[in-house]
Amino acid sequence: MTVRKLFLLPGDGIGPEAMNEVRKIISYMNSALSAGFETDEGLVGGCAYDAHGAAISEADMGKAMAADAVLFGAVGGPKWDGVDYDVRPEAGLLRLRKDLELFANLRPAICYPALAASSSLKPELVEGLDILIIRELTGGVYFGEPKTITDLGNGQKRAIDTQVYDTYEIERISAVAFELARTRRNAVCSMEKRNVMKSGVLWNQVVTALHKEKFSDVKLEHMLADAGGMQLVRAPKQFDVIVTDNLFGDMLSDVAAMLTGSLGMLPSASLGAPDGKTGKRKALYEPVHGSAPDIAGKGIANPIAMIASFAMCLRYSFAMVAEAEALEKAIANVLDKGIRTGDIMSEGCSQVGTVEMGDAILSEFQSLM
Ligand code: NAI
Ligand code: MG
Repeated sequence: MTVRKLFLLPGDGIGPEAMNEVRKIISYMNSALSAGFETDEGLVGGCAYDAHGAAISEADMGKAMAADAVLFGAVGGPKWDGVDYDVRPEAGLLRLRKDLELFANLRPAICYPALAASSSLKPELVEGLDILIIRELTGGVYFGEPKTITDLGNGQKRAIDTQVYDTYEIERISAVAFELARTRRNAVCSMEKRNVMKSGVLWNQVVTALHKEKFSDVKLEHMLADAGGMQLVRAPKQFDVIVTDNLFGDMLSDVAAMLTGSLGMLPSASLGAPDGKTGKRKALYEPVHGSAPDIAGKGIANPIAMIASFAMCLRYSFAMVAEAEALEKAIANVLDKGIRTGDIMSEGCSQVGTVEMGDAILSEFQSLM
């Protein structure tokens, strides 16, 4: 039987509450579907700081490196606001991203039919929306050198950030975009600003060349990132996969996320390079939301973002596409039945807590498998 190694890092606040609901799905898949998940669990964030004085221990880093996929809850909270920069809860996530070399951040924007009416756009623009934004995560202006603030001595200061991209960085992120597009609607839109940025010129050239060489079966379109932002809110359904750099991706993925409503619904994945021997990618799956200290411990957090992150894990780390689709369908069906946590509650629906929402999705999933 295939062994699938999952490393769970529930973290702080609502992280553990949301992770519990995924655990139930994993147990069911192991017992009823012989999925062969082997799970281990560690500490990350504030709880790791309390236990070892670091946001993640070396032992847990080792387990994350050895796993097929890491499931991450959320980190942080007011309790740790005063701790040193190097050991603050977020440092655990940054360390994982860096050591696992997770350069591709995947942010789907999916609109569940039952929630189309609560979008900030007209329901017909977002109903059935299913796009995937792929953001380059380890390069670009957030990391480029020089990065300084200098005193010019005349009462003025000068701040410099530098956008740097090498060919290999653009190639590997666009390869992810083309590969994933093939599993979807086979279309990639690459966004940069080649009209004003040299990095945009290179980005455009590298994507075009890779497309011609290896992915000419995929439909490729180029769009200036500002126009892309406009198109995302004007007619979001025109897109399948969008690939873009770290800075534009940060903004465009947040815009796309809000087309579909609440933070409690949004999953994400971060992927690394394929292993030379096995072809497997290192990967980490996490909800977009944080630890939500305002509602932690109350049993009311929406577990859907975490469960949908696990669905991404099934699809992208284990190629369990049927199971991933069933889990996503289970979420949609539960919403269709009017079952809601507080954050997505609307008139005429019935409000439930974290555990009830998890149970409802699991039971729907069981009936679909
Ligand atoms: P947050 O995402 O934790 O919460 C923002 C608002 O959305 C809160 O009102 C919260 O109750 C609500 N919310 C979030 N997730 C929800 C869910 N699943 N169900 C229902 N309501 C939900 O962001 P905030 O408040 O800015 O940060 C809180 C802490 O989380 C901070 O320490 C922050 O540094 C950390 N954080 C961690 C992240 C991570 O672990 N990747 C990401 C963002 C923030
Ligand atoms: Mg952002």
